[in-house]
Amino acid sequence: MNNNILKKSWNEKYSIVKKQIENMKSIKSVATAFNTNIDAIYKVNGRSLEQLVKQYNVSLDGVENSTLKDVATPSDIIKGIVKCFSRGIAEEWIIEDIEIYNWLDKNIGYERLQMGGQGGIIANALALLRIQKVIAHTNSLPEIQAKQFLDLDNLLSFDENGELKKASSISRNNDLPLIHWIIEFDKGDEFTIDGKNYKCPKSNRFIATYDPMNMNLVMDENFISYVNNNPIDFLILSGFNPLLESNNGLGLIGNAVDVLKKWKKTNEGMIIHLEVASTQDKVIRKAIVDKLIPLSHSIGLNERETIDVLEVMGEETLAKEIENETSACNLYKAIMHIMKKINPSRIQLHMFGLYLTIQQKDFKYTPEMNLKGMISASVVSSSKALNGELSEFSHTQKALGYEVSDIGLNELINLSNMLNKPELLENGVCEIDGYMVSAIPTILIDKPKTLVGMGDTISSVSLLGGW
Ligand code: GLC
Repeated sequence: MNNNILKKSWNEKYSIVKKQIENMKSIKSVATAFNTNIDAIYKVNGRSLEQLVKQYNVSLDGVENSTLKDVATPSDIIKGIVKCFSRGIAEEWIIEDIEIYNWLDKNIGYERLQMGGQGGIIANALALLRIQKVIAHTNSLPEIQAKQFLDLDNLLSFDENGELKKASSISRNNDLPLIHWIIEFDKGDEFTIDGKNYKCPKSNRFIATYDPMNMNLVMDENFISYVNNNPIDFLILSGFNPLLESNNGLGLIGNAVDVLKKWKKTNEGMIIHLEVASTQDKVIRKAIVDKLIPLSHSIGLNERETIDVLEVMGEETLAKEIENETSACNLYKAIMHIMKKINPSRIQLHMFGLYLTIQQKDFKYTPEMNLKGMISASVVSSSKALNGELSEFSHTQKALGYEVSDIGLNELINLSNMLNKPELLENGVCEIDGYMVSAIPTILIDKPKTLVGMGDTISSVSLLGGW
C-alpha cells in the first residue's frame, strides 16, 4: 500500500470518534486519585532565561545532564529550566523549602492558573466527556482550587463535612492552595552564554513543585470510604510522583497499597489504571513498579517514563538504547519486556505521533475497543493542544478532521516491518507471543497551545473511549 492510501485509510478510521464519545455517556462512575493541585503557567523565552542565568550567576557546566532533583536554591530552578529547555524534555523537580516557592511567586510569577495533577486533569476531561459520575480525590480544596474544576454537575468531590458535592462549588477555606510552577518553552527558541548556544529542540516544560499535601500523599478519608461503599467502574490512579525516599515515601506507598487492596476487595469489578508519571526519585519509582503496578490492571506511560521504568528494573542497556534512539521499534521492545516481566492486563505507551498498547488476550477491554479508545484519545488530546484547554464540550472534538501525522505513520510502518505484521499497519491490531498489540498514528498539532496534561488526557480517554 502506498503512503497516501495508507494515510487516507487511517484518516477514515477516525470517523468513529463522535460515536465513541457519545458512548462514553453510558459509563456510570469513575474515581480519580490522588493528586489534584493548581498549575501556575509561565512561558519562558530564551532571552529571559539568559537574563536569569546572568542575574543569579548560574554555572551551566554540565547542566544538560544534571541529575539534581531536590531544589535547594533559586539557581537550581534556573538549572532545571535550562536542562529541559536545551534538551526539549519534561522534568518535575521537588521543592521542600517554602522560601524557594516564595522566590518563584515573587520573581517568576505566572500568566494563568489551571487544573493540575493527573487526578484533577483527568477528572475534568472525563466529566466534560459526560461520564455519568466523576469523583475526584482532593486533599486540599480551597476556593482557588475548586475554581479549577469545571462547572459540571457530574464532577464531584467532598466538602469539609465529608459530603459529596459538585466539586467546583466547594470551598474548604482552611485548606492550603497547592501551586506547582509549570515553566513552558518553545521549540526553536535559543540563547547564548559564554559563547555556548542553547537551542530548544522541542516545545516542553519544566515543573517546580512545592506541595506539602501531595508530597505526603495525604488522603481524604471520605473519598476512601466512598470507594469502599459504592460501585465504581474505573479508578484512575496516580500521584506517587512527588514522593521522596527521604520523606518517608516508601511508608506512604505502603499506606496506599493497603487502601488499594481494600478497594479491590470491596469493588471487585473496578478496573484500575495507574498513570506512572515522571517520578524522579528512583527508590520511589522502583516501589511504584514493584508494589503498585501489580495491583493495577492497566498502566500508562510516555517515552521518558518507559525509559525510567526500565532503569529501575535493571535494564539499563535497553534504557540507553531507547535514550539514543527513541523510536516506536525500540519502545515496543521495552513495553513487551515490561509486559512479560510484570504481567499487567494492559500497558499503554503514548509517544510523539504514535500510541501503542500491549494487552493480555483475555482482558475484557478488547484490542478493538482499545483501538477505538486510542483514536478518540488522539482527537481529544490534539483538540486540547489546538485549543489550549478543554473547558467546553465542543472543544473536545476541535481537531476532528485533521490528518494523522507522517511522523506517526512512519513509526507505525517501521514497527510493522520489524514485527513482520502487515495487519498492524493496515488495521492497527496484531498478535505476538500470545499478546495482543494495537497501535495508531496520531494527529499532531504543529504549534500546540498547551502540553501539560496531554499524557493524562490520552491515557484516560484511551481507556474509557472504546466502550
Ligand atoms: C504532575 C505535576 C502537575 C501537572 C501534572 C501534569 O502531576 O505535579 O503539576 O499538572 O503532572 O501531568
